[in-house]
Amino acid sequence: MKHSPEIKKRVLELHKLINLHSHNYHSLDTPTIEDQEYDALFKELLELESNYEDLKYSHSPTQRVGDKPLDGFKKVEHLAPMLSLDNAFDSEDMLDFNKRVLERLLEDKFVQYSCEPKLDGIAVNLSYRNGNLEKATTRGDGKVGEDITHNIKTLNSIPLSLIDKRNSYPDFIEIRGEVFIRKEDFVLANKEAEIKGEKTFANPRNAAAGSLRQLDPAIAASRPLNFFAHGIGYIEIGEFELPKTQSALLKLYNSWGLPVNPLASIAPDIEGCQSYFLDISKKRDTLPYEIDGVVFKVDSLEKQISLGQVSRAPRWAIARKFPAEVGITIVKNISFQVGRVGSITPVAEFEPVNIGGVVVSHASIHNFDEIERLDVREKDTVRIKRAGDVIPQIISVDISKRKKGSRKIKMPEICPSCRCLLVKPEGEAILRCTAGESCPAQKIESFIHFVSRNALNIDGLGERIIELLVEKGLVSNFSDLFKLEQEDLLGLEGFAEKSAANLISSIETSKATTLPRFIYSLGIREVGEATALNLALNFKEIPNLLKASEEDLLDINDIGPVASNYITEFFTQERNKNLIEDLMRLGVNPKSIEVNNDNMLSSQSVVITGSFNSIARSQLKEELIRVGARVTSSVSSKTDFLVAGDKPGSKLSKAQDLNITVLDEEAVLKILNT
Ligand code: IVH
Repeated sequence: MKHSPEIKKRVLELHKLINLHSHNYHSLDTPTIEDQEYDALFKELLELESNYEDLKYSHSPTQRVGDKPLDGFKKVEHLAPMLSLDNAFDSEDMLDFNKRVLERLLEDKFVQYSCEPKLDGIAVNLSYRNGNLEKATTRGDGKVGEDITHNIKTLNSIPLSLIDKRNSYPDFIEIRGEVFIRKEDFVLANKEAEIKGEKTFANPRNAAAGSLRQLDPAIAASRPLNFFAHGIGYIEIGEFELPKTQSALLKLYNSWGLPVNPLASIAPDIEGCQSYFLDISKKRDTLPYEIDGVVFKVDSLEKQISLGQVSRAPRWAIARKFPAEVGITIVKNISFQVGRVGSITPVAEFEPVNIGGVVVSHASIHNFDEIERLDVREKDTVRIKRAGDVIPQIISVDISKRKKGSRKIKMPEICPSCRCLLVKPEGEAILRCTAGESCPAQKIESFIHFVSRNALNIDGLGERIIELLVEKGLVSNFSDLFKLEQEDLLGLEGFAEKSAANLISSIETSKATTLPRFIYSLGIREVGEATALNLALNFKEIPNLLKASEEDLLDINDIGPVASNYITEFFTQERNKNLIEDLMRLGVNPKSIEVNNDNMLSSQSVVITGSFNSIARSQLKEELIRVGARVTSSVSSKTDFLVAGDKPGSKLSKAQDLNITVLDEEAVLKILNT
């Protein structure tokens, strides 16, 4: 169909409206429109685009997740090279850098710098033509990168069209920045991947890189990717006037709706840079993302041009790196561990070494490919890195110190626990034992999960005791735990009268659990806590769940075909049905959770922060859901209540800024009990 000018105008207006509201919601956390209104705008645009194919622009907000995975990555030459940075490792290096800058600029006694945290993420280039995102590429070798537009479009915080009231943009601009994953999201994503039996990532940077190097944009869309803009590449300026400084450029980016690091600041001279560095060093561990240093850039863009570049790095910028939290030690042995769903992870044990005040003696090596890449062997001297909250990693092997006769680590063929043949699914990096429950290691891991804090929460039943119980044949499936008697424990290493009685009593207490905890404890693949809660709310009682068909499950929000398949498979297996029956017979009595709709917190949006004295956070969350509250993770103007425990952190100040009612532990428990 041919469109009229009015229709085109409306389409462009819809782009603007949707982009603006989406920016307010996703980047500023201050929604400016009701969800239904937003959906209506979106629907209107979709309809127009389906009626008029030529009005379906690639930068339309409907195109955030394209529909088809690509066949391969296109190589794209950068219009201006993506440079790297020279490094400074101490204040002397910084003074030398400043001296070089001053000498080249001749007239200056001092020079102002833009100071920015150096994010440990993935450098990307965003090309905007007339304010619309045209292409996104990776850095590649600095000259040629790969086209990742399909993935970048899934980041809600990256505007598809720049936001400017006067509609004034350069004709074309390359905006450079960093894509990253927050530390907390990285840990959650790996936990989730573990539960789903998927590949986990070694660190947040790899997770971000892995998400961008996907042909299917749905994968990037499902990952918590963030972006900070920090630089500029090629530009066709047109009528536009560019700011004079890097710091003003960052402000401009921000006004266009691009996220920039809020910790970016200006130092009037090199001394100011040194104090900025100290300040950021102190904050480093508390930052939600990983940084590996600070970048200092001559603030004046004109001076940057006159300073120019040498080979691959500009003369006007330097990265002051944090002292590496690295230690050198010797590998004692490399063994293979079996996870709950059979994934085999290599683990290196080494001579304990103190890295930045923490003694480290183990590192999990990501997968077998990583062993091959590092070519790490037993008795090797290795460099170990400890980064923030993340598990220690072997960075490299010192081959010159390798002992004669050392042997390459062979890929295991059989499971170290049950000795069955391992499989390596085509295209996957993970080796897997498929013996399930009959593999002792997997059995022990599933017991550990069954009794864990967010599952049945059996106090005092740690890994070592579970191993003993399984080894001695005292427990073989979950129901055996509830048949244990004090005498059985007394025969075990480390148990005395009192400790045995305590454990029996906590096993007894755990029988009065809740349905979501119970479902979660069963360790069904793809069923994490959120899914378990969803199942409990929808099916109310176990017999209903046992009868649920895949269609019934697919009707539930958040449950997809893969999960529904695992769930029905689990509940139709005779062995599992018997297990559940036995557990009930032995007194395990999961309470259904009823949504009680007449509580003050029913249908309210609630965020929980901090720690609590008389109730576990997970339990508090459950209780809130039970009264029909929507428990979300971040504070926005849509939040009705913030429940703040001890050490509430930044969520509390944000809630106060937004005038959101804050409830303390006592108040929330009182409301929940009414
Ligand atoms: S500026 C010409 N600013 O560090 C200047 N880079 O080692 C090029 N990085 O590839 C980069 N945070 O991926 C700049 N605030 C920041 C940065 C930053 C992280 C990364 C970037 C670059 C690498 C250079």
